[in-house]
Amino acid sequence: MNRIPVILDGDPGHDDAIAWVLAFAHPEAFEILGAVSVSGNAILTKTTYNMLRILTLLGATDIPAAAGAERPLCGEPSPAPSVHGQSGLDGPVLPEPGFSLCGLSGVELMTELLRESREPVTLAPTGPLTDVAALFLAHPELKAKIGRISLMGGGLLSGNWTPAAEFNILVDPEAAKVVFESGVPITMAGLDVTQRAYVTPEEFEKIRAVGGEVARVVADWLEFFYGYHRALGYPGATLHDPVAVAALLRPEIMTTRELYVQVETCGEFCRGATVGDFYSRSGKTPNVTAILDIDRPAFVELILDAVRFYK
Ligand code: RIB
Ligand code: CA
Repeated sequence: MNRIPVILDGDPGHDDAIAWVLAFAHPEAFEILGAVSVSGNAILTKTTYNMLRILTLLGATDIPAAAGAERPLCGEPSPAPSVHGQSGLDGPVLPEPGFSLCGLSGVELMTELLRESREPVTLAPTGPLTDVAALFLAHPELKAKIGRISLMGGGLLSGNWTPAAEFNILVDPEAAKVVFESGVPITMAGLDVTQRAYVTPEEFEKIRAVGGEVARVVADWLEFFYGYHRALGYPGATLHDPVAVAALLRPEIMTTRELYVQVETCGEFCRGATVGDFYSRSGKTPNVTAILDIDRPAFVELILDAVRFYK
């Protein structure tokens, strides 16, 4: 399997953090070129601090990291402390950052990495799409250097932050519209699949039992993150963001459909909705590989294998 060059972009965030645990556990599959933080679950200073702490925990202090967008293309940040806590990554104590930001902005770092790469690069955004949109608006020619965007965002059947919109898309619908209309191939891990990609409290303890610091931290993250889901009656913590990474590793455990998807940026009730053309009424060529289902036990095993990597 040739290693895929990957740029991570997220708003850690418990599930972003576990997506990155998964990504760095597969050096045989991924060459992680860099990581960029974005405002989303928490304000940018917090997601950036969390990014550096996660990378330090994972021993990934040798890759360039940059702070991305402080606010959406339009409007103001809308953090979610009810889900991820005031820090954006409440729960276990984490190491202090063992390295510093690279000195470039998020767009500057992504631009440099794309220009330097000899292979098509995969972007794995797991937060609002502000950084990716800003990159495309500033350097549209660099779309040609991107092989695929494997993103967590959207929901074809419903939202989770409004009835119609999923959080990542709702925070920055204008950015999402730019990305979905970019022509770059997109794998969409929306709520349709991520609501099924949950880990149960019993499985938290299987993860903890692997032993080692990363296993303990991941189990503690899951325990904190599940607090929000338990109140809503979920059987476990829904690991949204790791599905976007798992789709690059084990596509065979997922059910997908090629679909034309548009992003609603107006609408009294539907701003931020991702609208899938299931009956090809638009006459438009599909722009998205939409993930609709997942083999949940196989997904959980992937997470277990990832924490074993760090032991
Ligand atoms: O709706 C779920 C998404 O919003 C996840 O990426 C989570 O981290 C938050 O960013
Ligand atoms: Ca996220």
